Amino acid sequence: MSPFALPSRLLMGPGPSNIHPRVREALSAPVLGHLDPLVLAMLAEIQDRLRAQFGTANPLTLAVSGTGSAGIESCLQGLIEPGDRVVVEVRGFFGARMAEMSVRAGGEVTRVETPWGEPADLDRLRAACHTVQPRIVAAVHAETSTGVGLPLGEVAAIAREVDSELVIDCVTSLGGMPVEVDRQGIAAAASCTQKCLGAPPGLAPVTLSPRAEARLAARRRPVPFYFDLPLIARYWSGDHAYHHTIAVNLIYALREALVLAAEEGAPARHARHGRHGIALAAGLEALGLEILAPVEHRLPMLTAVRVPPQVADEAAVRRHLLTAFNLEIGGGLGELKGKIWRVGLMGETSRMSHVVMLLTALGQVLGVAPEGIGAAIGAAGSHVEAAAPSGEGARTGS
Ligand SMILES: Cc1ncc(COP(=O)(O)O)c(C=O)c1O
Repeated sequence: MSPFALPSRLLMGPGPSNIHPRVREALSAPVLGHLDPLVLAMLAEIQDRLRAQFGTANPLTLAVSGTGSAGIESCLQGLIEPGDRVVVEVRGFFGARMAEMSVRAGGEVTRVETPWGEPADLDRLRAACHTVQPRIVAAVHAETSTGVGLPLGEVAAIAREVDSELVIDCVTSLGGMPVEVDRQGIAAAASCTQKCLGAPPGLAPVTLSPRAEARLAARRRPVPFYFDLPLIARYWSGDHAYHHTIAVNLIYALREALVLAAEEGAPARHARHGRHGIALAAGLEALGLEILAPVEHRLPMLTAVRVPPQVADEAAVRRHLLTAFNLEIGGGLGELKGKIWRVGLMGETSRMSHVVMLLTALGQVLGVAPEGIGAAIGAAGSHVEAAAPSGEGARTGS
């Protein structure tokens, strides 16, 4: 039987993103046992490197087996006990999902909702928190369904005012913009590996403050076994007691992705994501498209753009990009399905050459004249030139 042939695509959707050849190589290293001393040493190294990404000294910092959702669910399952009051800031699909997960964890949930595409309403969030006096405040840092960010410092201040634990979904932001868990006083944060960290999907970095960890220890009712963070932490950094068979090849890949991120350095990496996000938005607007998020709330790594009225079948456009250009972008989720496209510039994918490719391919599919496409590329490039520090592209090839 012939092997399953898989192309190498340019992944410009909401994740996964492309991985560096060194990460791909790490994936194919020999499988070792999950208790092998070399694997255990690698886990300790990954914990330190994740602490650097999260901006924390939290001892309980590790990668849960599973995708980003597993990380968020393990934090919410651990910190919410039946009957606990929870306020969730909802401005898109993933905020709604945090609310649903909080309900399933037994929380009495108050949703503070904002129309999708608009920024969080901090006045209403503050008012709800003062009324409800929740044990937990939960919010999405980078709402991938709309491309709208969250002013983390302001939300953290609100959670502090009412002495609540702040739980943050930083699935899309970690590795692409500062998260600063300790500085913001975040109780728990969960992410994924397949977006701005530049590894394959399958692991979910999480970190919990010592106070949140103490709450886990004081729970009245145990959480589902697989999401039991103290037990998982015991395997990672305690007596290494078996909890489950960790996917060692994903661990190798995550370690290499974190090494690459450290080599680049957080400020340079965040700045790279920032520059290319601004360039992409400028180019898309020059193509005549409308960005969903207000300019001051836009995410650097995910741009949601409205499907123009002349396009009857937006999915056909995405199919065409995939088959003719080998380029993946995302469609809308939930109530934005059919109404937007989502273009990601995450991790290794965040390069100026990819911005140019996307503008060229999408411009052609939409029937924009070559001069119009050239103008869009020029608009994108002028933003990068305006913002680029010296040495741009030394490693990233941007
Ligand atoms: C903001 C956000 N939260 C949570 C998730 C869920 O992550 P995963 O698909 O890795 O489980 C995603 C996935 O795109 C996301 O963008």
